[in-house]
Amino acid sequence: MHMRTKKWAKPELAACPYFTDEAETHRGHWRALFREDRTLYLELGCGKGVSTAAMVYDNRDVNFIAVDITCNVLGDTRRNIAKTYGDAPVENVMIARYNIEDIRKMLAPEDRIERIYINFCNPWTKRPKYAKRRLTHPRQLMQYRDFLVDGGQIWFKTDDLPLFTESLPYFKACGFEMRYLVNDLHAAGFEPNYVSEHEKMYTEKGVPIKFVIFEKMPGPVELDPVRWVMPGAFARLREGVETDGDVLQDEEAE
Ligand SMILES: C[S@@+](CC[C@H](N)C(=O)[O-])C[C@H]1O[C@@H](n2cnc3c(N)ncnc32)[C@H](O)[C@@H]1O
Repeated sequence: MHMRTKKWAKPELAACPYFTDEAETHRGHWRALFREDRTLYLELGCGKGVSTAAMVYDNRDVNFIAVDITCNVLGDTRRNIAKTYGDAPVENVMIARYNIEDIRKMLAPEDRIERIYINFCNPWTKRPKYAKRRLTHPRQLMQYRDFLVDGGQIWFKTDDLPLFTESLPYFKACGFEMRYLVNDLHAAGFEPNYVSEHEKMYTEKGVPIKFVIFEKMPGPVELDPVRWVMPGAFARLREGVETDGDVLQDEEAE
């Protein structure tokens, strides 16, 4: 679906002291951008920041970096944060426009990220060969390992069952251990939970929200994320489905 360009977004973001369009220049020094060096969390693909604004406001003793690829949605993130804070100073969040596929160039081990949130990332389920674009794919998880501290967590929620079930072996292969899993987050009453724009939309349609917490185990992981193939039953499920046809346009519309 094509989203109409919001002309106001870029100028508002350019004037915003807690926005950066030059994320790579802060690599290794993100902590210095905040007033105080505190626990540092990262949200990937924050969209319009509906849950981000509530989460960062409620947790002002934690610093956050919220990333998305397009100013179109980050303009809303900024507005949502500004509205939620009102007259209170916004000192514990940085919004960054960046392509998460290259995140290793934006964050370094010295940035010591302690938790990563991935909320309703694009499922890329239409063609098996597009799975590598998922924000939970080993191509990504192996990058996150570089800057996530040992024992640091990834909190992942989605409406999409194939994405969810197929992501579980991704995490295992990349040296993460499961700490919590629930197939219906709202029924489970897990707290704290900040409801995102997509979460609200799917919940209203009656789709249960799947949620999992994984923890990074220390030590090296021997895995080539480019050549990695899903083991066992998952891989067999996909046998024969792979196509080489050029259907990128379909998938871009996902
Ligand atoms: C389905 S939306 C979910 C937004 C929000 N997290 C929510 O739950 O409502 C996925 C978001 O991820 C962003 N995104 C997808 N791929 C990305 C990438 N490679 N780098 C940065 N952001 C990306 C999209 O721009 C979009 O805002």
